[in-house]
Amino acid sequence: MTERLGPRDITRAASMLRDGKLVAFPTETVYGLGGDATSDQAVAAIFAAKGRPRFNPLIIHLADAEASAALVTFDDRAKRLARTFWPGPLTLVLPRRPDCPVSLLASAGLDSLALRVPAHPVARALLHTAAVPIAAPSANRSGRLSPTDAAHVVADLDGRIAAVLDGGPCPIGIESTVLDLTGARPRLLRPGGVPAEQLEAMLGPIAAPEPDVAPRGPGMLRSHYAPALPVRLHATTVAAKEALLAFGAEVPAGAAAILNLSPAGDLAEAAAHLFSYLRALDRPDLCAIAVMPVPERGLGRAINDRLRRAAADRLPRHD
Ligand code: TXA
Ligand code: MG
Repeated sequence: MTERLGPRDITRAASMLRDGKLVAFPTETVYGLGGDATSDQAVAAIFAAKGRPRFNPLIIHLADAEASAALVTFDDRAKRLARTFWPGPLTLVLPRRPDCPVSLLASAGLDSLALRVPAHPVARALLHTAAVPIAAPSANRSGRLSPTDAAHVVADLDGRIAAVLDGGPCPIGIESTVLDLTGARPRLLRPGGVPAEQLEAMLGPIAAPEPDVAPRGPGMLRSHYAPALPVRLHATTVAAKEALLAFGAEVPAGAAAILNLSPAGDLAEAAAHLFSYLRALDRPDLCAIAVMPVPERGLGRAINDRLRRAAADRLPRHD
């Protein structure tokens, strides 16, 4: 049985993590499936609970930026980014130190490590109390939509993990931006909660993601974040038996079901609703989810990235 915990149970959740158990917890982006990153058994259990391919590495979550010094080589670019964007929805991929205590399984054989300091108060309290680096992929079964509230976690992982710590809905609702700093030029591996424009303002030009290239961005494989129904993008009209995921004030009529990401056209509001609305519209009595266009700027880039993956060919599934 998966125990249901609340923000008052931080000490219990932290000691479960220290005992090598798996605990899902809220972050400002999505819920994470946490395990002690220094334990091979705990990290292996994360892959097993998700059904995640072992070649897809995990993000390591830390209570503060100082904790990263023992794990990776932190260059000047990383220091500047951490000062501005940590705690927050930015993941930095950096060279692993030779004496890094994190399980090699978590980096899936790469000589780099992905690190993030989340901003959510429950995540911060948990990481601070556990006082070990916590490996945490999104707390969904591999290939499914990321969970933005505790009920989504339970729907995917009940009985497969020790506990879920309920901290309410995730305020940002879309995963962290993943930035690779192992090369001379920073490379965006996944658009996310920190818009790339903000990173470029600090770093100058950032190389684009290399689509479908393993192992640098194995989690970026095309089919990902997928609902069961087919997803139709750039919809300006809607067919009978289609659900409509709308955006903005002008919405076509005739949908069998409709949810509007943001009637006001606000991208932060749209990101916060994206995964829960896709889950809600993923109904067996409908034949497809039609999605209205979302502007390709700011958080819209991350939203469109997830929507393109949700619409991509379904096999094989990853993450
Ligand atoms: O917002 C988030 O990032 C959430 C919360 C829980 O922190 N976590 C999350 O984890 O989205 P996950 O495992 O679903 O996605 C992590 C992504 C994957 O695409 C993975 O391939 C990439 O980060 N990644 C992890 N380590 C890497 C590494 N060493 N090199 C390149 N990519 C890496
Ligand atoms: Mg994920």
